[in-house]
Amino acid sequence: MSSIETDMESVRHERTNRLAIDGGEPVRTAPLPWELPGAHWIGEEERVLVERVVLARSPFRFYGLDPQHMVDTLERDWCEAYGHKHALAVSSGTAALAVAVAALEIGPGDEVLIPGYLWVSCVSAVVRNGAIPRLVDMDATYCMDPADVARKIGPHTRAVLCVHMSGAPGHIEQIAAICKARGVKLIEDCAQAAGASINGTAVGRFGDIGIFSFQLNKNMTSGDGGSTEGKTGSSCTKS
Ligand SMILES: Cc1ncc(COP(=O)(O)O)c(C=O)c1O
Repeated sequence: MSSIETDMESVRHERTNRLAIDGGEPVRTAPLPWELPGAHWIGEEERVLVERVVLARSPFRFYGLDPQHMVDTLERDWCEAYGHKHALAVSSGTAALAVAVAALEIGPGDEVLIPGYLWVSCVSAVVRNGAIPRLVDMDATYCMDPADVARKIGPHTRAVLCVHMSGAPGHIEQIAAICKARGVKLIEDCAQAAGASINGTAVGRFGDIGIFSFQLNKNMTSGDGGSTEGKTGSSCTKS
């Protein structure tokens, strides 16, 4: 490469790696929908599949006149997409969180680290299982500060519940490394971040269990619903 090309390359690199607010290339030129992002994506594919279920008169997953096994397909596709062994479709993200904590057999006397910025279901899932939520500071990602995670892990900590808020992944690679080194489980709450990735890896793949929500105000929606997927043996399907 000539020196001019090298300079141009470094300018390009600078522009694409700088935030738009600092003069970098904007990722988007038109704003995303203000609300209900998943609803904006509902289209022909969804219409065809919903119609199939309606025409089969079989809206229940387990039995009916002619079940279409859509939920089985979702669970299978989810496992494939996230590289986990098990996926369990449940009624909501709130239920998925409760299932995740129960699947790890976390209960009375155990502590779960949670971020200071979250959705109330993150706290209720821990409390519902009889365990103690312990707050961790957030950093500029609006997610947990890895340094504070390392500081707060104590003798009773069984898991870290990392919440990727507003579709923006936290420092999940560092948090996963800390959890591994300290022997605690990692649950990723991806309710607001289905489809988000960091360094090419989707959030939900870093932890032992990932949870998702398909509620109306999420990236991917069925109106309501959730899913828990994990690599921890039979724990997900057991719950
Ligand atoms: C971060 C987070 N976790 C969990 C949930 C719970 O999902 P659901 O509304 O499907 O119960 C939400 C919902 O807003 C959320 O934002």
